[in-house]
Amino acid sequence: MGFPNLDGKTRVCGLFGFPVEHSFSPAMHNAAFQNRGLNWAYLPFAVQPEHLAKAVQGITALNLAGVNITVPHKQRVIPLLDEIDQAAAQIGAVNTIVNNQGKLVGYNTDGAGFIKSLAEEANFEPRGKRVLLLGAGGAARAVAFSLAMAGCQAIYITNRTTETAKALARELSQKCGVAAEVLPWGLELPAAAVARVDLVVQTTSLGMWPNTQACPEFPFGALHPGQLVCDLIYTPRQTAFLQQASARGATILNGLGMLLYQGVLAFELWTGHTAPVEVMKEILERQLNDSKL
Ligand code: ATR
Repeated sequence: MGFPNLDGKTRVCGLFGFPVEHSFSPAMHNAAFQNRGLNWAYLPFAVQPEHLAKAVQGITALNLAGVNITVPHKQRVIPLLDEIDQAAAQIGAVNTIVNNQGKLVGYNTDGAGFIKSLAEEANFEPRGKRVLLLGAGGAARAVAFSLAMAGCQAIYITNRTTETAKALARELSQKCGVAAEVLPWGLELPAAAVARVDLVVQTTSLGMWPNTQACPEFPFGALHPGQLVCDLIYTPRQTAFLQQASARGATILNGLGMLLYQGVLAFELWTGHTAPVEVMKEILERQLNDSKL
């Protein structure tokens, strides 16, 4: 893809992570800038962990418009910023920085992107709903706090390491006032509890390429039509977990929508323009097909 408009007025943003070479974000954002006729460019920056503080200073020094932050920097970047949005502070991770005239403001569009993908791709509104989360790591935190803030009624958490799930449940009820409860992991998970929830979200890395045969143990027989089952994984597009859920009649959704909408929200925070969602979606689909993952 070319950058026909690069000149002295080009606004630059990008991605800080390590590694970054497999990211779909540069193609997605550059296509969006072109589509909107914006003289902007998005570049990948491979920032080693020991260089993160200097790279963040570089945002102001080089007058970058903003950056996305990815693995392994999402938590460690927080103390390096001037201001943290409330949702990002609760989640404890930042994936988007806006350079507001030299003031660096941190946001988390992962969680909000997930909520938007539920609305846009499954017509699902979290308010008043019961949710079961598998996993209690970084991705689970973004999803859990965003669901709590979107008004869901109860969040059940199951995780291989019970202590991590307990800590997350405690934080959710203290910070958001939502009912949060820990349930046993694997086949010990009570079928009745699974049958009662409206939404199941699989946030662990089990089943992600190249270990596509992996799947959390789960009482799949308790799932039924009318439930929505999400897996945050999008390589492969349909994990073994989603296949099992689909076989029980549940509606299924993968993580591609979350990836798309976290990008859509970041684009809008940086540029103030409405993002060309369909263009961004098409680029993601194409990148995913080309990557053969
Ligand atoms: P991410 O940012 O992708 O959420 P993470 O913060 O490292 O990554 O969290 C990984 C999640 O996947 C955790 O819930 C982890 O469970 P533990 O807390 O027990 O580590 C879960 N996970 C990873 N590998 C797993 C496995 N083989 N079996 C069960 N759970 C696993």
